[in-house]
Amino acid sequence: MLKSFSNKVVLITGASSGIGKALAIQLLQLGASVAICARNPQKLLDVEQELKHPNLICVPADVSVEADCQRFIKQSFERFQRIDILINNAGISMRALFEEVDLSVLKQSMDINFWGTVYCTKYALPYILQAKGSIAGISSIAGYKGLPCRTGYSASKFAMQGFLESLRVELLYKGVNVLWISPGFVASNIRNTALNAKGNHQQETPLDESSIMSAEECANRILASIDARKRSLMMSFQGKLTVWANRLFPNFADKQVYKHFANEPDSPLPKI
Ligand SMILES: NC(=O)c1ccc[n+]([C@@H]2O[C@H](COP(=O)([O-])OP(=O)(O)OC[C@H]3O[C@@H](n4cnc5c(N)ncnc54)[C@H](OP(=O)(O)O)[C@@H]3O)[C@@H](O)[C@H]2O)c1
Repeated sequence: MLKSFSNKVVLITGASSGIGKALAIQLLQLGASVAICARNPQKLLDVEQELKHPNLICVPADVSVEADCQRFIKQSFERFQRIDILINNAGISMRALFEEVDLSVLKQSMDINFWGTVYCTKYALPYILQAKGSIAGISSIAGYKGLPCRTGYSASKFAMQGFLESLRVELLYKGVNVLWISPGFVASNIRNTALNAKGNHQQETPLDESSIMSAEECANRILASIDARKRSLMMSFQGKLTVWANRLFPNFADKQVYKHFANEPDSPLPKI
């Protein structure tokens, strides 16, 4: 039982769906007060009505816009009078060859996945320092190994991890824990909203979403790692194997990763 979340104030970006929504539900059950944001106001309203909880606030905000992040943090503090934990979860993915992709896809990936983390962390940090709390980033195996057709996604997650690791060391003696979490494949909306070469949502998933980890299990493991004040968490065996192989046998890892992604249904990567 994760007792440390009781009476804590937790902010989660991108929590109208998937992992973020599952985190919000579990945190409310554990007695935390929760502030969430996402872009689509209707989806946020649906979550608000579904959860109907007095300790939940939902703030429409686009994390790629600095002023929105500042407002999200301000409104959360005004409502709850403290901030203990920030979970930088909002993210988008992509699937396109770099040769073919519109560069706006890479810009959006960086603006949301990386800059969204930087902006929210910047404005929440004074409160988290006061509370000696935690800052978490939901990264990916793509933050350790460059993945084909995900140039912008991998770049944004590498950048996010570099930012969080630097900050972790800066805050080492200030009582704030900084960690990043790398799930494997988790059932969510992320592959439907992944951007294609033209910057449109691909609107389909190449995976059987029912056969991969649930967002609930993923959220449970994220909360356990925040509770234990870990430095990082890599969730899947496949992810650990990929990162390990990439360190020891990088050429072999490149070929295995190529094969895996070329074999996905409708992969833009030519089969060899
Ligand atoms: N699912 C996986 O297999 C997997 C694996 C590794 C890592 N991750 C990471 O886990 C995180 C959560 O993804 P998920 O799988 O739960 O995806 P999801 O179901 O698509 O949820 C993404 C959430 O982020 C919000 N969002 C997207 N862009 C935003 C923006 N600019 N500002 C504010 N909110 C924004 C979305 O709402 P709006 O569109 O309304 O804004 C939605 O609530 C992401 O960072 C992702 O990279 C996922």
